[in-house]
Amino acid sequence: MKMLGIVLLSCVAVVAGGRSPHADYIEKLIKTNAFGARVSDNIIEDATLDLPDLVRKYNYPFEEHFVTTEDGYILGVHRIPHGRSSNNIPGERPVVFLMHGLLSSSAEHVIPGPGSGLAYLLADEGYDVWMGNARGTYYSRRHLNLNPDALFNVDFWQFSFDEIGNKDLPAMIDYVLMHAGKSALHYIGFSQGTTVFFVMCSLQPQYNDKIISMHALAPVAYMAYNKSPIFLALAPVSKEIANIASQIGIGEFLPNREIYTWAGQALCMDGMILQPICSSILFLIGGWNEDQHNATMLPVVFGHIPAGASVMQFAHFGQSIADKEFRRFDFGTLQNLLRYGTAIPPRYDLSKVVAPAFFHYSESDPLAEVEDVYRLFRELGRPMEKIRVPDSNFSHLDFLWGIDAKDLVYDRLINLLRMMD
Ligand SMILES: *[C@@H]1O[C@H](CO)[C@@H](O)[C@H](O)[C@H]1NC(C)=O
Ligand SMILES: *[C@@H]1O[C@H](CO)[C@@H](O)[C@H](O)[C@H]1NC(C)=O
Repeated sequence: MKMLGIVLLSCVAVVAGGRSPHADYIEKLIKTNAFGARVSDNIIEDATLDLPDLVRKYNYPFEEHFVTTEDGYILGVHRIPHGRSSNNIPGERPVVFLMHGLLSSSAEHVIPGPGSGLAYLLADEGYDVWMGNARGTYYSRRHLNLNPDALFNVDFWQFSFDEIGNKDLPAMIDYVLMHAGKSALHYIGFSQGTTVFFVMCSLQPQYNDKIISMHALAPVAYMAYNKSPIFLALAPVSKEIANIASQIGIGEFLPNREIYTWAGQALCMDGMILQPICSSILFLIGGWNEDQHNATMLPVVFGHIPAGASVMQFAHFGQSIADKEFRRFDFGTLQNLLRYGTAIPPRYDLSKVVAPAFFHYSESDPLAEVEDVYRLFRELGRPMEKIRVPDSNFSHLDFLWGIDAKDLVYDRLINLLRMMD
C-alpha cells in the first residue's frame, strides 16, 4: 500500500519519459538536489529537519523525552516548555498535551511555523507544551525487543488505535504530569488524537481526573457518515485487510521514508507542474478547502508526513465505518471470545468519559461529519460545548494547516483554556 510513493514515482517516470518541457528541470533536481531560486531555502530546510532541530531553528526551547509503555514500546515525547525570549520568564505554566492524527506525528502542530502552528502559539501564550507520538510513528518506532522493520514478522505492528488510547496515552500522560510536577493537564487532540482520548477515558476512567479540559479538533469516534474516499474504500474489506496484510508480512501502512521528503521537495514546490497532484493526495487522505490550502507549505508537510501507522489502525477505522458503532478491535469471533468474552467486540462506554470536553468541528469535514460529531457529543459523560468553525467550507486538514486556523479555531481554543485554568 505504498500508494503515495507509487503515485509520486510514476509521476516522475511519466514526466521524465515523456520529455515534457520540465523533464530536464526535474532531472537536474534529482541529480544536483538543487532547487529553483523561487523556492525559499526555509521550505527545503524545514522539510528535511527533524523536529528537535526544526523547533530550535526558530529559537524555541525543545526537549525530547522517551517513555516506555507497559508493553515495551519506546515513545518519543516532545516538549516546548515555554515561548521565545520575551515569554521566557520562569513561573508556573499550565501543561497542554497535544496528540496528533492518523499517519501524522508531533510535527503536525509545528509545520506551519511560528505565529501559525498551534504548538508555537500555545508556548507563546505561556503554556508548557508537550506533544505525544503514538507507537509506530516516526519518533516512536522503537521497542524493547520487537523490530519494526523485521522481515516477515509483524509483531511490532500488532496494534490499532485501541492500544494507542489504552497504553500509549496513559504512559505519556503519567510521565508528563510527573515530570512537570502537576496533577492535571489540558488535552488537545486532532482527529485520531481525539479517538484515542475517548478510548483511554472509557477503558481507564481514572484518567478523567488528570484532565483539566479536553479539546477535540475534528472529533472522530463514530464514522457512520464518513465521506473520505480512502476510508470508504477500506471499510468493506476492513475485516480481512489486517489478516491478509499480516499473512504477507506487512504491518505498516505508509511509513515515513526519505522518498516522501525527497518527492515532496522535488515535486510539490511552488512553481512545479506537479504541485496539484501533491495537493490532491492530501485531499484524498484528509480533505482540505481551497481557500484554506497553502500549497507553498506542501514540501514541509511531505517532509514530515506520512509518519507511519499500522495496517490495523486503518482496519479499525474501517470497522467503525462498516459497523456504524464505536467498538474495540474486531479480531473475529474466536479471538474476540478469548480477548473480550463476547463474540462481538464491546462498545467503548462513552458515558465514562467525564473529563470536560469541548468540540471544535466543521460543517464540511469529510472525516468528522456533523451527525457523527453530534452523536458522540451527546453520549459523552460531560460534554461542555460544541463550537462550529465559522467558515462552512472549513475541512479536516484545515484544523492543522488552514491559512486561517488561528483566527477561526485556535484563538477561541486558547480563550477556553484560560477559562478552564
Ligand atoms: C504559506 O506557507 C508559507 C510557508 O510556511 C508561509 O511563508 C506563508 O506565509 C503561508 N501563506 C499564508 C497565506 O499563510
Ligand atoms: C464556500 O465555497 C463555495 C464554493 O466554492 C463558495 O461559493 C462560498 O463563498 C464559500 N463560503 C465561504 C464562507 O467561504
